[in-house]
Amino acid sequence: MLNDIKEVLYSEEQIQAKIQELGETIAKEYEGKNPLVICVLKGAFIFMADLVKRVNIPLEMDFMAVSSYGQSTKSSGVVKIIKDLDVTVEHRDVLIVEDIIDSGLTLSYLIDILKRRNASSVKIVTLFDKPARRTVDLTPDYYGFELPDSFVVGYGLDYAEKYRNLPFIGVLKEEVYSG
Ligand code: XMP
Ligand code: MG
Repeated sequence: MLNDIKEVLYSEEQIQAKIQELGETIAKEYEGKNPLVICVLKGAFIFMADLVKRVNIPLEMDFMAVSSYGQSTKSSGVVKIIKDLDVTVEHRDVLIVEDIIDSGLTLSYLIDILKRRNASSVKIVTLFDKPARRTVDLTPDYYGFELPDSFVVGYGLDYAEKYRNLPFIGVLKEEVYSG
């Protein structure tokens, strides 16, 4: 598995240090608010697990799975809910936890849904952001690292469902894609 990696962009240590910072910032922001923290499956599950351990205030968690129709490495903008929330978001302060924002289509659709369900507030934390790829006007409230426009794997992110369990984020060798 490690043989397939061309370059490590951020190490496990760098990621964990950043998550500590994000956790402290978010804890201050939501102190006394009992936020509902929503993990967007599957990519964000590792970030979610590490992040909530660093947000030392009372909070609740729920999980949602979405998929965008269309090509495998690009969002089509049409988002399908595979698994919806178990709880209602009405009058809740919602924090969406995402792994990576690319075009921004998935998240703008999700934000729309949650606002229509009358959440009091909807904010976004993403570990990785590719701002150069944005096709809609969307800025995360909190983010970890900006990435260049290349396909990345590790720390929850996959290529064909593999590599999610790498503790760092990196770029695959070209030969992995070409088989
Ligand atoms: P949009 O374009 O809607 O897409 O912002 C966000 C979703 O696309 C996936 N994505 C990636 N997955 N490596 C991945 O493994 C990447 O480099 C990458 N870029 C985008 C991801 O599922 C994200 O939630
Ligand atoms: Mg995702």
